[in-house]
Amino acid sequence: MRIGVVGLGYVGIVTAAVLAERGNEIIGVDVDGNKVGMLEKGTAPIHEPGLGELISRNSNRNRFSTDYGVLKDAEIIFISVPTPTSNGNADMSYVMSAVRSASNANGNAIIIVKSTTLPGTAAKIRSELGIEVVTNPEFISEGTAVRDTEKPDRIIIGSRSRKAADAVESIWSFTGAETVVTSNENAELIKYASNTFLATKISFVNELANLCEKLPNTDIDVISRGMGLDKRISPYFLKAGMGFGGSCFPKDTRALASFARSVGETTSIVEAAIEVNRKRIDRVVGHIKDSCGNGIGSARIGVLGLAFKKDTDDIRESQAINLIGRLKAQAGSIYAYDPVVKHGIDGVNMCATKEECIEKSDVVVIATDWDEFKDIAVDESKTVIDCKRILDPNRYKRFKGVGIGTGDK
Ligand code: UGA
Repeated sequence: MRIGVVGLGYVGIVTAAVLAERGNEIIGVDVDGNKVGMLEKGTAPIHEPGLGELISRNSNRNRFSTDYGVLKDAEIIFISVPTPTSNGNADMSYVMSAVRSASNANGNAIIIVKSTTLPGTAAKIRSELGIEVVTNPEFISEGTAVRDTEKPDRIIIGSRSRKAADAVESIWSFTGAETVVTSNENAELIKYASNTFLATKISFVNELANLCEKLPNTDIDVISRGMGLDKRISPYFLKAGMGFGGSCFPKDTRALASFARSVGETTSIVEAAIEVNRKRIDRVVGHIKDSCGNGIGSARIGVLGLAFKKDTDDIRESQAINLIGRLKAQAGSIYAYDPVVKHGIDGVNMCATKEECIEKSDVVVIATDWDEFKDIAVDESKTVIDCKRILDPNRYKRFKGVGIGTGDK
């Protein structure tokens, strides 16, 4: 098929790359000329395992442009533009305008919205623009996006037209995933419900981690393991740490909470999850202060990891960056290292290696769960604060791990 993709962020690029690998012809459109230029040359503009290979291998089947006109031959067009929040409210204007432009360029193609859209967005597109769209949310995670697209747990298709739903189902049939065909509104809400539920799970376990820190002989990792072996609970998203970051959970939790309020309902559990997450940084700063014998004002703090999680260069709403923001006003000096995030951060001394970062610091904070931090060597005079619980506590003399009970390491 000839498949158009509008919006070449994580979702759009990965969708394009995976569908090209299946033999489809891809026509990608984005406003960012630099990104388009890189993709035209067969290179991936983002760090995502496996993506670069797919893009370069299929470059003969891919075309990229900043001009919507190239979509005129597409049989279907995916819309994967951002839906940011402004003042806590989700902003659907990029989706509206991308759908309008795609439909102007090609009135015959089936338009499929992959962007995360509030319930009622497809109906709004229908009533305001007179265009029918299929809602087909994605559930890919950064760092495993290619695999998640090729082998998703499920495909959700919201459509009023059986024919359009069938067309979308056939595109994804190679995945073998169970498919739910439903209303646009259900499909839209399934996406928000999934992300906010996972975020709530994380906040739940982070609150339990706080409780563990007040109790002897407890460890949140062991408790999560014990809980997660119950198939009804599942082991996923039970890892306590710094709280959730990234371009999705913080935005989608805020958006659902404010959307619910706008229709006269409250999602109090989601609101609590947001609040618990907000306080996560206070907690970590507290641990750092506790470990600085001579006061945080003269301490040299080393932050290992800047990306919002491992295997990505994405720092959007990264808790590591939020932590640095809070430390800047208080700590003597801040050093940082990340395996892939290399651009400078105001007020931070960027280090070329993790060893340099550790060497220059009095307190070393694990802020992202990169594999290469799992076995760091740290001098006995320094304190290690493991906010992601990836280290063996017994290897370090001065150690604090989130969610480890009192009296223990
Ligand atoms: C998330 C969802 O997992 C995807 O299903 C969804 O498609 C995507 O948002 C989206 O809406 O586009 P992503 O933001 O890439 O994916 O990252 P996650 O792996 O979900 O992690 C989010 C945050 O939660 C990270 O800061 C991570 O460190 C944190 N986290 C995750 C925990 O603190 N504990 C956990 O157990 C899991």
